[in-house]
Amino acid sequence: MRQPLVAGNWKMNGTLESVTALVEGIKAGMGSVFTAEVAVCPPFVYLDTVARLIQGTSIALGAQNVAKEERGAFTGEIAVSMLKDVGCNYVIVGHSERRTLYGETDALVADKYARVLEAGLTPILCVGELLEEREAGKEEEVVARQLDVVIEKVGIAGVGKGVIAYEPVWTIGTGKTVTPEQAQDAHAFIRQRLAAHDGSVAEATRILYGGSVNSSNLPGLAEKADIDGGLIGGASLKADEFLAICRAAD
Ligand code: PGA
Repeated sequence: MRQPLVAGNWKMNGTLESVTALVEGIKAGMGSVFTAEVAVCPPFVYLDTVARLIQGTSIALGAQNVAKEERGAFTGEIAVSMLKDVGCNYVIVGHSERRTLYGETDALVADKYARVLEAGLTPILCVGELLEEREAGKEEEVVARQLDVVIEKVGIAGVGKGVIAYEPVWTIGTGKTVTPEQAQDAHAFIRQRLAAHDGSVAEATRILYGGSVNSSNLPGLAEKADIDGGLIGGASLKADEFLAICRAAD
């Protein structure tokens, strides 16, 4: 049985005051979430604050990005050891905004993934196609390429230590969604791709769906066999809405 995971990716949003209120709101409602694991991924500068606020709760902490290097003269970058130091459990790697806006390549994403694993934290690997790739019927080809680079780098066992998030890029922050059936097809494809290497890893690996997920569309997605929760952007910025999504994933 794969435990569902709902991770809130706050992106570049919030203030000290608003993130505190958001965490307090989520904490207050956690009693109504029974089986899903809940994680929040604040901007780097708020990680330490949020880590303190969630101490003693079951809420997990994630970062949105990490450097591929271990330490040193890399101005503006954040090392995985620092993320570990402040209490992170998860690190998102290869988010489509990193790939498309900041030029992160498949190879760089694989390096970051390996770095996170090495530190003993759990990477959340984002994969997903652009609209033109879907329109050209290339969604499987793109996702396979993004996955294969990571499998090559860390082996199938390494992939089994992480979480995968399938996020069709054109549905992120746009209000557009795929149907639960289209999402299930993509998730099943990813699982088969893993199974070609190792059946038990494929069976155990959590595959989250992301892209304009909210409390109304998550129930339809979460009931699909290969969808194990969500990576939530905009809807994770309101405690009530985020908690409703977590309950729907239960
Ligand atoms: P969204 O973002 O829920 O705002 O579409 C999802 C994501 O980027 O992970």
